Amino acid sequence: MNEVIDLLLSRRSGRARDMVGPGPTAEQLEIILKAGMRVPDHGKKAPWRFVVFEGEARSTFGKAIADAFQQANPDAGEESLRFEANRFMRAETVVVVISEIRDTAKVPEWEQVLSAGAVCQNMLLAAHVQGLYGQWISEWLAYDKSVHKALRMEEQDRIAGVLYFGQMEQPQAERDRPDFDVKVTHWEI
Ligand SMILES: Cc1cc2nc3c(=O)[nH]c(=O)nc-3n(C[C@H](O)[C@H](O)[C@H](O)COP(=O)(O)O)c2cc1C
Repeated sequence: MNEVIDLLLSRRSGRARDMVGPGPTAEQLEIILKAGMRVPDHGKKAPWRFVVFEGEARSTFGKAIADAFQQANPDAGEESLRFEANRFMRAETVVVVISEIRDTAKVPEWEQVLSAGAVCQNMLLAAHVQGLYGQWISEWLAYDKSVHKALRMEEQDRIAGVLYFGQMEQPQAERDRPDFDVKVTHWEI
């Protein structure tokens, strides 16, 4: 039990740009994805889906990312286009979590979006428990319509997160955390 709590209280993101291999094994990735699906979800809508990028798929999709970047930035130079084409190469495994908003008359959009956020967090925790690093990032591409189209997203869908998984050469140092007593109040009559 203490071990689980220690893990919960010690999770840290690793920086995607500093990640090294190995990434999650197929088994570890399945656990990460299953943990992602194990979230509260009002109305049992499962209002999210996952797109996994590994191996060459990262550079194949990198072409779509670079094209989208060029469309949005017609003056982009070769160096930045190369960077964009290699964006997903920063980690061994990249998972895009798509928040699929459906049937908002029954379940408010906000609650469906929150469920997708919980998916991302569960995935980070499942990676951490297995000795891996993860980072949940958005960057420009999460908001880009051409990228959405390449991912076959519907108009109302959003990217909840782009999650990078791998290892760090050095354990990540702790960072400042919010002041517990500022964030937590107990209601008193
Ligand atoms: C929805 C969301 C989007 C984020 N997008 C970015 C991003 O684009 N770039 C970035 O450096 N960090 C981003 N972060 C922050 C990192 O995921 C991470 O929380 C941060 O580096 C602090 O590390 P920690 O998780 O160890 O506290 C985002 C976090 C969330 C929840």
